[in-house]
This record gives sequence, C-alpha cells and structure tokens, in this order.
Amino acid sequence: MKVLVTGGAGFIGSHTVDLLIMEGYEVIIVDNLKTGKIINKKAGFYQMDICSKDLEQVFEKERPEAVVHLAAQISVQDSQADPHTDAQINILGTINVLDNCSKHKVRKIVFSSSAAVYGKPEYLVLDEKHNTVPLAFYGLSKLTAEYYLKMFAELFGLRYTILRYSNVYGINQKLSGEGGVVAIFIDNLLNNKAPTIFGTGEQTRDFIYVSDVAKANLCALSTGDYEIFNISTKTAITINDLLAIIRSIMKKDLTCLYGPKKEGDILHSVLNNSKAKELLKWEPAYSITEGLEEIVENL
Ligand SMILES: NC(=O)c1ccc[n+]([C@@H]2O[C@H](COP(=O)([O-])OP(=O)(O)OC[C@H]3O[C@@H](n4cnc5c(N)ncnc54)[C@H](O)[C@@H]3O)[C@@H](O)[C@H]2O)c1
Repeated sequence: MKVLVTGGAGFIGSHTVDLLIMEGYEVIIVDNLKTGKIINKKAGFYQMDICSKDLEQVFEKERPEAVVHLAAQISVQDSQADPHTDAQINILGTINVLDNCSKHKVRKIVFSSSAAVYGKPEYLVLDEKHNTVPLAFYGLSKLTAEYYLKMFAELFGLRYTILRYSNVYGINQKLSGEGGVVAIFIDNLLNNKAPTIFGTGEQTRDFIYVSDVAKANLCALSTGDYEIFNISTKTAITINDLLAIIRSIMKKDLTCLYGPKKEGDILHSVLNNSKAKELLKWEPAYSITEGLEEIVENL
C-alpha cells in the first residue's frame, strides 16, 4: 500500500515513516522542512507546504491509497502569539489535504490530534467522551480540523481515524513542542546544566513513547474507522519523578532549580487508552523507564 505522510520529516513523522517502510509500505513524504529534517532515503520526498495548491500534483502523480496527516504548527506558545498562522496551517492546510484525499479517492486518512483539545480536565482519567474546551488556539485549531474530517466523511465518504496523542517523547525530539520537557531535561544533563522545573514539579503528565505512537498510526491505517482514540499510557508521572528517572539513567546528580508555575499550565493530565486497546488493537509497549533508557542508549 502506498501511504503519503505529511510532516514525515518531523519527530513523530520520521518514526512513522521508518515503521511503515519496515512493514513493507511504499511511503511518500510531504514536508516543508519548517521544523523537520529527517528524510528516510527509502521514501519519496516532496519539499512542499501542505497549504500549497501544488499539493494536488503530488496526489495526482503519486495516487496514495492512504494518508497519515502529521504536518502542523505544533507550538502552543506560537499559536497564542500568532493564531492566524496556526489556523492557516492546522485548519486551512488540513482542509487542503482533505480536499485532495477526497478528490483523489484516498481510502483512509489518519489524523494526529492532541490532548490539547480537552482543555482543563473535568475528571480524570480523561476519556474520549470528555468535553472539548481547548485553552489555547493550538487546541482549537486541532479540534476544528477534527470537525472538518468528520464533515468530509459525512459529505464525501472519506474514511478517517483521529488519534489524540498525550505528551510524546523519544529519540530525535526537538526541545520545543508538547512533550519537549523530556528532551530539555536530557539536553540540560548532557551539558551539565541544572534543569529548571516550573511550579512544584508535582504536576503530572502522561508521556507516551514515540515508537508506540508510530505503531498507533500504523494500526489506524487498517482499523478504527470514523473513531477518535486517545493514544497514551494511562499512567500519570510527576515532573519531579520524571527528572529523577532521567537523572538515574544518565547517572547525573545535578540538583534542579524551581521556577514560577507557567501560566495556564494544567495541574494533572492522564488519558484513558482503553478504547484504543479494544478497537484499534493497540497498546503501548514502553514504560516511561524503558522509553527513557532507549533514548539515553542512543545519545
Ligand atoms: N509531540 C507531541 O507531544 C504531540 C502531541 C500531540 C499531538 N502532536 C501532533 O503530532 C504531529 C507531529 O508533531 P511532531 O511532534 O512530530 O512535530 P514536528 O514539528 O517534529 O513535526 C511536524 C512536521 O511538519 C512539518 N510542517 C510544519 N508545517 C508544515 C506545513 N505547513 N507544510 C508541510 N509541512 C509542515 C515540519 O517541518 C515537521 O517535519 C503534529 O500534528 C502535532 O500537532 C504532537
């Protein structure tokens, strides 16, 4: 099967492309290289913006059977500073991808959404039925894109699966972005710099390893049609504990600094993954320690 991966040169995209190729898929990457830079040589590559009219030529020429849509503006802070650009890429860019999927009879699209669509948790553990009240333009643009997918499905029969990832971490992660704290702590310790924790460090997050996310993207190509799934570990870890594990794996005993709590930071976040386990036949293989060990082994 031929799969077009938008954002395939990025962090999650490159792991997804590698896995697809390993599993025998033919892969085409569309990426403008804004933040991504990893291009698997076995994949076809178009350096292109997803907002471009020329995207149509790629679909015409390559005729992909499925699309994994990962290209996005991914910074919450940037979305607050420039909601226009965020919407341009995450909403209009997605519509351009959907339009081409529909015109060129793509059999299935997998869309990378985010836990950011939920906003402040009304209860924990967060499941897919939880209200969606995003706190930032990034969450709003991802949620809006989800609605466009549903409408393209209703109007034009486009098959989709929406995956709402929790905080993703792993090899080749950049220091910015949603799961960036892991990459920042590792970078700090490598450079013998004391890491800073914002707030008490007792806030919790659900960190999912990037290989598990790539696997979820692969599963969603063949199952979970017209559904939304949380892709998470369903395990909460405090930022203090996260740093303690990284310090122990890296054998670096630097004391950390505490800074003021970041404005708008949610105190606790953990996502239920039962639906993905049941219907997507997916489950995470990596514990946080196993994921962190693999990153450190590859430094
Ligand atoms: N990293 C996380 O923790 C996390 C959590 C939830 C959801 N997501 C979603 O997963 C997807 C991938 O995120 P990532 O962490 O790999 O980020 P990333 O920045 O590494 O990857 C995004 C890729 O898209 C490309 N891109 C950006 N704008 C583009 C455009 N207009 N046209 C073409 N290509 C463009 C970038 O060059 C990059 O290669 C995004 O949709 C993001 O919103 C990520």
